Amino acid sequence: MALVKDILDTMDYGPSPEANDHVRDWLARHADGFGHFIDGGFVPPAEGAFFDVTDPARETLLARAAQGSATDIDKAVKAARRALKPWSALPGHVRARHLYALARHIQKRERFLAVLESMDNGKPIRETRDIDVLLVARHFYHHAGWAELLESEFPNHAAVGVCGQIIPWNFPLLMLAWKIAPALCAGNTVVLKPAEFTPLSALAFAEICIEVGLPHGVVNIVTGDGATGAALVAHPDVDKIAFTGSTEVGREIRKATAGTGKKLSLELGGKSPFIVFEDADLDAAVEGVVDAIWFNQGEVCCAGSRLLVQEGVADRLYRKLRVRMETLRVGDPLDKSTDMGAVVAPVQLERIRALVAKGKDEGASLWQPSTAMPGMGCYYPPSLFTGVEPASTIAEVEIFGPVIAGMTFRTPEEAVALANNTRYGLAGSVWSENIDLALDVAARLKAGVVWINSTNLFDAASGFGGYRESGFGREGGREGLYEYLVPGWEKSARAPRKDAEPAKLSPLPVGGIVGGRAGLPSIDRTAKLYVGGQQARPDSGHSYTVLDRASRPIGQAGLGNRKDIRNAVEAAARATAWSGVTAHNRAQVLYYVAENLAARSREFEARLASMTDTSAKAAAGEVALAIRRTFLYAAWADKFDGAVHATRSRHVTLAMNEPWGVIGIVCPDEAPLLAFVSLVMPAIAMGNRVVVVPSARHPLAATDFYQILDTSDVPAGVVNIVTGESDPLATVLAEHDDVAALWYVGSQAGSATVERASAGNLKATWVNHGRTRRWSVDAEAQGREFLRRATQVKNIWVPYGE
Ligand code: NAI
Ligand code: MG
Repeated sequence: MALVKDILDTMDYGPSPEANDHVRDWLARHADGFGHFIDGGFVPPAEGAFFDVTDPARETLLARAAQGSATDIDKAVKAARRALKPWSALPGHVRARHLYALARHIQKRERFLAVLESMDNGKPIRETRDIDVLLVARHFYHHAGWAELLESEFPNHAAVGVCGQIIPWNFPLLMLAWKIAPALCAGNTVVLKPAEFTPLSALAFAEICIEVGLPHGVVNIVTGDGATGAALVAHPDVDKIAFTGSTEVGREIRKATAGTGKKLSLELGGKSPFIVFEDADLDAAVEGVVDAIWFNQGEVCCAGSRLLVQEGVADRLYRKLRVRMETLRVGDPLDKSTDMGAVVAPVQLERIRALVAKGKDEGASLWQPSTAMPGMGCYYPPSLFTGVEPASTIAEVEIFGPVIAGMTFRTPEEAVALANNTRYGLAGSVWSENIDLALDVAARLKAGVVWINSTNLFDAASGFGGYRESGFGREGGREGLYEYLVPGWEKSARAPRKDAEPAKLSPLPVGGIVGGRAGLPSIDRTAKLYVGGQQARPDSGHSYTVLDRASRPIGQAGLGNRKDIRNAVEAAARATAWSGVTAHNRAQVLYYVAENLAARSREFEARLASMTDTSAKAAAGEVALAIRRTFLYAAWADKFDGAVHATRSRHVTLAMNEPWGVIGIVCPDEAPLLAFVSLVMPAIAMGNRVVVVPSARHPLAATDFYQILDTSDVPAGVVNIVTGESDPLATVLAEHDDVAALWYVGSQAGSATVERASAGNLKATWVNHGRTRRWSVDAEAQGREFLRRATQVKNIWVPYGE
């Protein structure tokens, strides 16, 4: 045994292991293998197969878990379906009591869960004990509260139904909580598939469900690998898929669910910037880097994995960082003074090694501390790359390990450009003592979460989720709950119609046959496209004949193609100023649009009456409602407030509703003016620029509308209109990387195509799957749902009151 005087000399910590016999006893009791948790009890896998669950630090076998097959998934989905009706019909208060009981029991088992999680994943006990498990309980408490408030705070909403939830291995129990708590609170039932590397804490949670008497079938847990996950995604009776994991698998899931009507939320990878300005408190920033990239061995989707440092302080920061890195203790995850534990599995370790080798090949310099590394187990040392080229692999690819890529910048502009130079957009961290600079940069980062002078803060009251290829949807907070709710009317909505034949538009040379009475040649009245504030001839040089209700030609419209959509997207992408003007300013423009529409209402009424089979009275009603809705969104422009979330730390967490940027909008044939206005106005009121494909059969009300836009101070490029065949144009929009969100109202087949084709940049889509929305009914066709769809929430954590 070491003598105290020697210890005072060496300042050695000595081992401080957390006892794990309670966990070992539990594992011993399940030595025959864990079954799946289905319908309130554990059941053996249908096909009898099990897989090994290991401890990556000791490289030992911990348990054997059931390999879920399509049969097991089916059984679980059926149980969830049976449980759905009674569970969703419970008063919110009763569901709140169940969630509260789950939270209490998690707390009672805190130490057990912390140890188990550490053993299965390799993460340090200090983190599972002080972060993971605390947040797990917090999530259940927080959502017990929402269950109580659901009816009053989310009126006219219903549960989505049976939710398939697939989670990764980096925060096994926490990701379970992020998925299950909001789902249950909103009245859904779930089938959850844990990651194959780390299924144990989910199985322990299943026991807690039994303990608290949760009704059978409300929570089902099927263990297994990617194939099990794929079977869950493919199951026809699942209403929603929530996924956290790699962007590649997220993309597969987007394609697999396309056209099925399943609601989808994706929380995917990241390559988040950690930006240090020269006026930052460098010592605090160094601690920030430790939390950003060495927390959880860097296996964190929002890890600050790109260190962007202002040139003047780069050497000083790197120096301080190296000194700090020397003090990080890597070793036994169950030792209470371990800073970094083991990587989850040998394949992940290999992946990290390969990417680091690639970084060296590409010329970046690697630095690792001389810290002693354990002789066995999946360990990787904390690593710092400097002199990283922004276009190199390690600057672009998610390493998902304790490796940070250092780069320098000179100006704030350069910092923002570097930070946003990624296909991801999960998080960002900004370090500066200058509040103006920090908040200015926070506003310009394309990321779902921004931490100012802090990093990796999480709380159930704040939304979490990404921009761009980091996915869509939020978890946590008020915004996260919408992922588990649908507008009430949608639940009772009519079944989708059979798809109508898409309008067949035969190409004619622009300025063809229409008009020409009494032998006189016609004046070319072909409606043009409207791109970048200009009327534009279609690239194809062709137009098509627009027919009235008796199939008589009444005009021509341009036959837009791929090139026209590209031009329109380019114009919309350039019109960034619109997203930056004040909401008051946008409101003024919308009021002006409404005023000009009112001034010309007769003309629009006549147009509608001639184009469609509506009566004159109905046409007048449609125009009047279009005017009212434009007023409505003018009113909303400066009232769709964000929020300040009451998170648990000394921060204000600003939930900002930000525009997507460019939204593609494909309009239905019904209510050709009203649907156009109902979709375009909320989008632009929130600061988006849009590329609109109006009704293919009845495009002329939309093309008349560009004269209104021209006279109402709508800046060039804010609204672009491309007429032509809806579905082919929608596909081009879906495939376009500069379109951030796409709204499609049309057929089932078209909805499927749009969802599938959007997988490239994982744009957020909103499609109708062939269902009709009654555009004249306010409850269905206007309001907050449209505004929510027109925005994405960025949560900015600002130190406050310290
Ligand atoms: P993964 O995305 O394959 O696994 C996540 C979950 O999805 C697991 O439960 C897995 O069984 C399941 N899954 C896999 N294929 C599926 C499919 N076709 N359909 C449905 N479910 C499926 O991630 P993996 O392979 O464990 O890690 C690979 C890389 O992914 C990591 O190195 C890291 O870069 C990234 N990753 C990112 C995470 C994040 O939170 N953003 C979490 C885990 C991994
Ligand atoms: Mg494991």
